[in-house]
Amino acid sequence: MQITPSILSADFANLERELQRISGADWAHVDVMDAHFVPNLTIGLPVVEALAKVSPIPLDCHLMIEDPDRWAPGYAEAGAGSVTFHIEAAGDPVRLARDIRAAGARASMAIKPGTAFGPYEELLDEVDMVLVMTVEPGFGGQSFMADQMPKVRQVREAVRRRGGEIWIQVDGGVSADTIEQCAEAGADVFVAGSAVYGAQDAAAAVDQLRDLALS
Ligand code: DX5
Ligand code: ZN
Repeated sequence: MQITPSILSADFANLERELQRISGADWAHVDVMDAHFVPNLTIGLPVVEALAKVSPIPLDCHLMIEDPDRWAPGYAEAGAGSVTFHIEAAGDPVRLARDIRAAGARASMAIKPGTAFGPYEELLDEVDMVLVMTVEPGFGGQSFMADQMPKVRQVREAVRRRGGEIWIQVDGGVSADTIEQCAEAGADVFVAGSAVYGAQDAAAAVDQLRDLALS
């Protein structure tokens, strides 16, 4: 069970300090948005490169961008430990996953709420993680979509059938109120933005989420 706070809800004027607040977490989730794949714009490669140099924990980059085939391997080269591309945007996902791994990061594919997992099951041979979105990508602080839990179960079942060590991540609206149902459905990596950075004590929020996921 791994907790991955999203710095989308952190203070962007003080990112190094904000990363220190979550040093007890497993990964720092970095939401990269391009104002095309999603209707929001955040940060890109130069900032990720700078964060990778100062972060106490590895970076988990979630690329909500068009043409990830072109850009995603660069995030691995910039020092991200895990790079997630959206399956809806990928041109050649097999090659893309291999490029990310060749550049030294774990490769992961993300699935939007309206996208079915079934057609992509064979990609489990190529990735280290599947991200099941539990909100429409684009913004922090949205309501958790419990109707995505059957998809988490479906991915967990497929991973079980195939064997291997593929992680299942959920992202969007994950909090103390919703994390247990995610864990019960089969998720083992939990992104939380507002639930961690909105708390007085971010470190305590991370520990609480981990305890709930394990319970
Ligand atoms: C949404 C992002 C999420 C976001 C989650 O598009 O991918 O990572 O930061 O924020 P919360 O946890 O507040 O829903
Ligand atoms: Zn994200």
